[in-house]
Amino acid sequence: MSVTLQNFCVLGIESSCDETGVGLVDVCGTDLPVLRAHALFSQIDMHQAYGGVVPELASRDHIRRVLPLARQVLTQANRRLGDVDVLAFTRGPGLAGALLVGAGVACALAAALQKPVLGVHHLEGHLLSPFLSADPPCFPFVALLVSGGHTQLMRVDGVGQYQLLGETLDDAAGEAFDKSAKLLGLGYPGGQALSALAQSGNARAFHLPRPLLHSHGLDFSFAGLKTAVMVQAKKLAAQQGCAITALPMSVLADLAASTQAAIVDVLVAKSLAALHGTGLERLVVAGGVGANRLLRDRLNAECSGRAVQVHYPELDLCTDNGAMIAMAAAMRLQAGVQTAHCDYAFDVKPRWALEQILTR
Ligand code: KG4
Ligand code: ZN
Repeated sequence: MSVTLQNFCVLGIESSCDETGVGLVDVCGTDLPVLRAHALFSQIDMHQAYGGVVPELASRDHIRRVLPLARQVLTQANRRLGDVDVLAFTRGPGLAGALLVGAGVACALAAALQKPVLGVHHLEGHLLSPFLSADPPCFPFVALLVSGGHTQLMRVDGVGQYQLLGETLDDAAGEAFDKSAKLLGLGYPGGQALSALAQSGNARAFHLPRPLLHSHGLDFSFAGLKTAVMVQAKKLAAQQGCAITALPMSVLADLAASTQAAIVDVLVAKSLAALHGTGLERLVVAGGVGANRLLRDRLNAECSGRAVQVHYPELDLCTDNGAMIAMAAAMRLQAGVQTAHCDYAFDVKPRWALEQILTR
């Protein structure tokens, strides 16, 4: 049974990887949905010791966190569980076991409340997260989706109307940050730490490749950059007769700054090329790497000179969170591109291309 709604409240659950997130948004007619509360628990400290996400530990921790977080969100929003009209969860892509926790809890709550449920694409959550900001965009726009697992440029004409313009052929931008950071001994996920260290470094100290910078297409490739960082770091360590992680802080900072500059140069150039190619004058940046200060500064500078508006999610909503899942569900229902249903049999899609949810 599908359900049609006008004014409603959505509770969204995110559990695709190493963050448990819950968010609550209200929809009133055709107005932009409003975020009432959200809460997050990051498992990063738990996975640090292993140098990356351990899927089984991630799933078990989501189980521990999700209901207390839901309670916290309801209290913050001054609502009771019975006030929730729709339950939403991240259906994919992500870690299968982790996704099943959010899906299972959302469907169990929905079944108990006899309310409809809806599975959401994680990347659509990121893509629509700037609509939660104080300065929301309007359609159409070019979106640069830069997360730990994805790097894509999309043309976005409306909710569910996404055209892939280009994507990474190998590693994602976040992966390039994380793998370089790990090599330099900055822990996991190292994007933020590498960017912090880069602040005291010289971005011109080492010349690292900018893969596909001058190619005509809008695809990316970051695997070669990661290798180049490793070759450079090993060379420096051999010269100094020490381990890479024991290199002087100033050298590590120069490596970090040079790596960040190479990644950002490519992201900025391809975003500008996508704007030019589509003729659109609005850019939306979403996903964890969208929190990067240099990327924001460079895009702001380049776009202001071209009369292009750039929109970002609020900093705390750049990385994974439940607010974006509630928001994506709310916007999909509002736009009529998906209906919520009361069939509580669920599945998850660990591998799921965004193009597969298109409405045209
Ligand atoms: O979107 P997200 O939370 O998770 C995925 O869906 O993958 O993105 C996480 C990624 C990680 O690779 C992390 O290192 C990166 O975003 N990240 C950053 C920064 N903050 C998070 N990368 C560069 N600079 C940052 N400030
Ligand atoms: Zn994400």
